[in-house]
Amino acid sequence: MAGADRVRVLDHPLIQHKLALVRDCRTGPKELRELVEELALLMGYEVTRDLRLEEVEVRTPIAAARCRVLAGPKLGVVPILRAGLCMVGGITRLIPWARVGHMGIYRDPATLQPVEYYCKLPPDLSEREVIVVDPMLATGGSAVAAVDAIKKRGGSQIKFMCLIAAPEGVDRLTRAHPDLDIFTAAIDERLNDHGYIVPGLGDAGDRLFGTR
Ligand code: PRP
Ligand code: URA
Repeated sequence: MAGADRVRVLDHPLIQHKLALVRDCRTGPKELRELVEELALLMGYEVTRDLRLEEVEVRTPIAAARCRVLAGPKLGVVPILRAGLCMVGGITRLIPWARVGHMGIYRDPATLQPVEYYCKLPPDLSEREVIVVDPMLATGGSAVAAVDAIKKRGGSQIKFMCLIAAPEGVDRLTRAHPDLDIFTAAIDERLNDHGYIVPGLGDAGDRLFGTR
């Protein structure tokens, strides 16, 4: 599979219900942060569906049982700052041993170009599956820059998880990184003249952290 075939819209009823609450302009920062973390946890089920298992023997109070436990690969989660931070807790509740890297990238409001200002990633990226998280995939510039940076440091098994994508962002990200699996809860109509997703949810970072 390559490119567009690797894009999955997760339409579980709980995910769609919580996404509606996140979009609602009446939802304030505290509730938004809780919802975004819950969404990341719910979506994390699907994002991790292809993890490998191996057989082990476990002794129950009654008898020996053949069980299956995760076999690998090692995992990493990389939020794109700021808004991606709110998705980390959902993933690390599922996978507490995942290493967490951070990509600081903001979008220049005039040019809409991504500006990288911070990068701290686990050193053994080539041995890890990395889940990049950001609620918004708009022009795709930030996501492409984050995946570029991870690949430059040795990462090769990479997934991208967002809540809302614009068709323009999906197109740009799949063209730049056809080997990437993309998971989203919705693909919206389009971008507006300021690069915001329509209908989207507004400015994710500002709404999550109450900075506007
Ligand atoms: C938002 C969002 C993404 C980016 C998406 O971050 O969280 O990172 O925009 O837009 P793009 O697909 O066009 O690159 P923003 O740049 O507002 O940074 P902030 O969260 O630090 O405010
Ligand atoms: N960044 C956001 O936070 N929201 C958008 O709609 C687009 C980019």
